[in-house]
Amino acid sequence: MIFLLLTKCIMFVCTIFAAVSFETDSPRSKRPFFIPGMKKSKLLPTAFSVMLLCGPAFSQHQDDEFQAKSAPVQFEDVEVLDQEAYKPKPIDTTMSLAVIAFGSCNKIDKPQTLWADIIANNPNIWVWLGDIIYADTSDMRALAAHYKRLKTNPGYKKLRSRAQIIGVYDDHDYGINDGCKDYPMKIGAKKCLMDFLDVPRNSPLRKREGAYQSYTFGKGAQRIKFIIMDTRYFRDTLQPDPNPNRRYYPSMTGDMLGEAQWRWLENELKNSDANLNILCSSVQVIADDHGHEKWGNFPNARKRLLQLIVRTQPKNLLIISGDRHMTEVSKMDLQGLPYPLYDFTSSGMTHIRSGTSEPNKFRVGDMIVKKNFGVLKVYWVNDHPVVTLEARGPKNELYQGITVKY
Ligand SMILES: [Fe+2]
Repeated sequence: MIFLLLTKCIMFVCTIFAAVSFETDSPRSKRPFFIPGMKKSKLLPTAFSVMLLCGPAFSQHQDDEFQAKSAPVQFEDVEVLDQEAYKPKPIDTTMSLAVIAFGSCNKIDKPQTLWADIIANNPNIWVWLGDIIYADTSDMRALAAHYKRLKTNPGYKKLRSRAQIIGVYDDHDYGINDGCKDYPMKIGAKKCLMDFLDVPRNSPLRKREGAYQSYTFGKGAQRIKFIIMDTRYFRDTLQPDPNPNRRYYPSMTGDMLGEAQWRWLENELKNSDANLNILCSSVQVIADDHGHEKWGNFPNARKRLLQLIVRTQPKNLLIISGDRHMTEVSKMDLQGLPYPLYDFTSSGMTHIRSGTSEPNKFRVGDMIVKKNFGVLKVYWVNDHPVVTLEARGPKNELYQGITVKY
């Protein structure tokens, strides 16, 4: 403020000096410049006019400079028109879950046709596995606006009123295709996701780096835990594959999670008291034959994850994933794990990939290239979970159902 006042005073004095120089009735030797017709009587009004015209522009420039240095871009002021859509909805972990629905890859500018079909399954919870929106922008206001369009969509609002909602971003809602740890707007992207998911302002999740999170629902022997990984915020860069048919080449040194998240994950797996653990990954963990984004682009990180699962022995762990614009189930047997490990991929909700076939030595059942969402129906037999992995599409058509008895 003092700086601005001082600046304006200096401008005022300079303007008077200049005006004296221009004045026609001063001796010509004292006039470095000459403006014909300038009278002494016009000296003061001219000085004030110049100051008023230039002052605000200069002051504004200074304000912007201070703004940029002292305060990051604020997102709280995004206009909210639909109070119902934005009414906070806290997570209720006391609820038992029988139907879990999930999905990914949802372009808000394409018809949102699956919400009624998802609701028809009466899910207790909906899990976003990334690409919730396709913002692809480093403008966080624009990214928040995409979330706003989804949050105010009548179909999504109806689901939100009936089911709990948790989840994580992938790349397009992170703000950049195939983005990773070097994305400069990752703090803002995480904040937009937290706002979209109604994560409370005082949640520790908002204070730490990354969007990894966990929730345990239900009681007693029928607890179900979601362990949601953040595969973007700490992920190393991908190596482009020289083979034109494949996008990425495996990086033996690259990591997916970062050490803080690895420590968190180990703790979540080791100390889980749930009888069904659902590990959520935006990109596929098991399928490894394709050249797109996957854990397999970082073979040592994938191996570390699989070894961690064996070492920590969580009860009945199932992986769910997205990103691929098709649905399939992959299965692998891990030595030392007393049950087969499944990775149920469901994607996309508004658009699908072009090719209809792809090798995957771990696939069980079919690869289905149709718009889809995933449904896990959980039954309990003597406190052992039985889970049906259902891939469903428009008109709630059941494309494939695979039952896993733990
Ligand atoms: Fe993606």
